Amino acid sequence: MTETLRSHGPVAAPTATPTSAVGSMPVAPAAGIAPSRAAANQAGAHVNANAYAEAQDFLPLKGIDHIEFWVGNARQAAAYYRSLWGFTPVAYSGLETGVRDRSSYVMVQNDIRFVFTAPLTPEGEIAEHVRRHGDGVHDIAFAVDDASFAWAETTKRGARSALEPTEIGDGVDGVLRRSAIHTYGEVIHSFVDRGDYVGVFAPGFRRVKKPAAAAQGLSLLEVDHCVGNVGLGDMNRFGDFYRDVLGFSQLIHYDDKVIHTDYSALMSKVMTNGNGRIKFPINEPATGKKKSQIQEFLDWYLDAGTQHIALRTEDIVTTVRQLRANGVDFLGMPPAYYAALPERVGDVGVSMETLEELGIEADRDEEGYLLQIFTRPVQDRPTFFFEIIERHGSRGFGVGNFRALFEAIEREQAKRGNL
Ligand code: FE2
Repeated sequence: MTETLRSHGPVAAPTATPTSAVGSMPVAPAAGIAPSRAAANQAGAHVNANAYAEAQDFLPLKGIDHIEFWVGNARQAAAYYRSLWGFTPVAYSGLETGVRDRSSYVMVQNDIRFVFTAPLTPEGEIAEHVRRHGDGVHDIAFAVDDASFAWAETTKRGARSALEPTEIGDGVDGVLRRSAIHTYGEVIHSFVDRGDYVGVFAPGFRRVKKPAAAAQGLSLLEVDHCVGNVGLGDMNRFGDFYRDVLGFSQLIHYDDKVIHTDYSALMSKVMTNGNGRIKFPINEPATGKKKSQIQEFLDWYLDAGTQHIALRTEDIVTTVRQLRANGVDFLGMPPAYYAALPERVGDVGVSMETLEELGIEADRDEEGYLLQIFTRPVQDRPTFFFEIIERHGSRGFGVGNFRALFEAIEREQAKRGNL
């Protein structure tokens, strides 16, 4: 497991270097791009230069252990993520392993571990969750050294317990320790300690010995960030929650220069932990002329919830080309977006023709640039989707694309009759 999921073993260098304060790096203008361009791209984004230093990583959180989705049909979800997204099934639990109320499939790609769980009966919390929300994120689980300590410290700071510290053992692979707290909506954060556990995922799961072949040619490396959508007025409350309960600090705040458009508006704060591995933007709807995309999510998820997960790649062109060939649907950007792009971002290492062909967006700030693309919702309800992101110095979230992105989302909302 530690070979495949490197971030859960000994701590390697974090993606974002904590010692290098955000926003304080020397401005190195890209070829053909005036420094003011990079700044103009980021209008309305307020970066906290001391975010990593300010984070009180008292637990500490080592990284994301796994993300569990509760879905209507886990077997088919697992097949979708295997055959379209290139995830390999590594573990299974269900009737054959003595579990009577649910079946779960653990899917892995590099440092990303997803679990898809479906109810086997009409009763219980999973069936109720799926009935109310459709498919969605249930648990963004953290890897920790001490699940009891993490639970005690966070509940002492005001978190509501979802699972008291628990030891699970099967007498074969050792003991897995876990606990959990609630966050926005019905989402929980588990704390998982694998220090004394050597099994494939957790007791009750069996290893998938001969997994069917996963889609090839994809290079999804790790979870870059997880975005929560919360109700009007709740962004600050949950920003405070991550600061006070988990010791995060605020990395970026997007003000009304970003939100005050004619389009589906939002407000957003990005919270980060101390090693920069865990980044949680929190969105709330803002009033615009049209219905906020955040409000559309809330209307269809019927609660606050996880809006999207960004997966980091170092080869977005090959990965997106393969995902498209496999049938994954992405948001489209109009020709006008690409006509304006060279002046806005300069050289981003990929030709504008290729970016336009694949629908990939680019943004530049004072630290560098990023390439990103967003899928359409991956279930029938217009709720959860994925982002694919390739970073070259930039630790931003593509604020320069927000307006064009909102317009693209708005066109989709209009098609759904939700604008
Ligand atoms: Fe994102």
